Formats: sequence, C-alpha cells, structure tokens
Amino acid sequence: MSGYESVSKVYDSVTNDSAKLFVPFILNSIKKYRSESQSLLELGCGTGNILVELSKKYETYGLDLSPEMLEIAGKKDKKSVYKHRDMTDFDFGRKFDAICCMYDSINHLTSLNHWKRMFDCCFRHLVDGGLLIFDFNTLYKFSLLDMKGPTYFKAGKDFVLLENSAKKDRCTWHFNIFKKEKDVYKLFSEDIIERSYEFSKIKEKLKDFKIIEFVDEGGKKPSSKTTRVFAVCRK
Ligand SMILES: C[S@@+](CC[C@H](N)C(=O)[O-])C[C@H]1O[C@@H](n2cnc3c(N)ncnc32)[C@H](O)[C@@H]1O
Repeated sequence: MSGYESVSKVYDSVTNDSAKLFVPFILNSIKKYRSESQSLLELGCGTGNILVELSKKYETYGLDLSPEMLEIAGKKDKKSVYKHRDMTDFDFGRKFDAICCMYDSINHLTSLNHWKRMFDCCFRHLVDGGLLIFDFNTLYKFSLLDMKGPTYFKAGKDFVLLENSAKKDRCTWHFNIFKKEKDVYKLFSEDIIERSYEFSKIKEKLKDFKIIEFVDEGGKKPSSKTTRVFAVCRK
C-alpha cells in the first residue's frame, strides 16, 4: 500500500517545493549525460509537481500507486500521461530516454528486494544509454528525524501535525491532518513508512547499471553525515 489517501488532501500545501528541489537536477543530468532525450517517465509522480515542469520540454509519463495523488496530478497537468501502477511491477510496452523517481519516493519501498525490482523494471524500460535518476533519504537522515519534535503546519484552511519516529533503517512519518469542513475540523491520520539502506547495499542492487553520479545535495561524494543522496545511472 502506498498510503497518501489522507496526505493527498494537504500534500501540495505542505510540500510545494518538489519542482524547485528536483527539476534543476533532472534537467542538468539529462543535459550532461543524454541531451538528445525526448521521453521521460517519473515513478511515484504524486500530484505531478515535477512532471508539470518537465512536460514543457519532454514527452512525459507518470505512475503512482495512489489514485488520490494521481487525480490531483491529472487536473493540474493535461500534457503528461498518468497511470495507476506500482513502481516495482509495471509494463508500459515501450522504452524511455530517462526515468526518474524523486523526493524519496524510492524510500517508500520497504524491502531492498523491492528496490531491486524497481531497478529491474527501469532497466527494461530504458533505451540503451538511457538514464535512471533518483534520490533517497539516508540512514543518517532517519537518525536526525528521530530526535526532532513534532512539526506543525498551516495548509490553507487546514492544519497538519507531523511527527517522526525512526529505528535504524525504518522511519515513520505520522500525519495528523485537521481538515476544515464547514465549521468543524475533521481529523485524518495516516502513517507513511520509509526504509533506507547502506550505500554499498544500494549500489550492489544497481550492478546492471553504470553509476555515473552518486552525490550529496552539494554535488559532493556522500559522507556519513549526508541526509539525501542523488544518483544518476546509465543503462
Ligand atoms: C513523497 S511523494 C513524492 C511525489 C512526487 N515525486 C513529488 O516530488 O512531489 C511519494 C510518492 O510515491 C508514491 N508511491 C509510494 N509507493 C509507490 C509504489 N510502490 N509505486 C508507485 N508509487 C508509489 C506515493 O503514492 C507518493 O505519491
């Protein structure tokens, strides 16, 4: 299960930074490593914030496990093709120049075997020389989240209380969403679980690809204090 049935109600108000955070990295990677690219697929595309930008330049496709997130994406972005699919088991019957999976969407896969199944699906769906671009939250990030107290957001007319708990390689984001409906607030609660793994274990699962970049947010080699890793791999 992907979750996001309740989180979709406030996702865009709480997380309105995905295009700013990830589109420049995707565009630069394509420019550097496969400038002739025409087609792109995003896995875990959510509400379409990244694809709405990339569709200005490429023929874009998105898949997600949450029908609620896809419904928002489809209303926002009429150019991309959105499909309800699992990123570990999909068949589009065609290949792409680039596949991306951003904003720790891959961390939602709760076993390393599922990460490998996702990589295998990407390998089958990429043209020779095509790019797999993704990011993930590190084990170090999980350790920091566990020490963080609750965060409180205003999301339009609604309120969100977000708490984290993490144990080694597993982190749970507890969302409590107070949604204003007429004059009352209705509470929706949902847990989103993420997993992470040591860099060496992730790289091992990528052995069919050539890893071209495996960097931190500043473009440097990741260290034990890196919170998010960006990877670019070539088929
Ligand atoms: C943090 S959101 C990121 C959404 C989008 N990429 C963005 O940048 O805003 C993670 C997304 O991954 C989706 N997801 C989780 N597990 C999935 C799976 N197995 N297959 C496809 N999508 C999945 C969720 O439904 C959610 O929309």
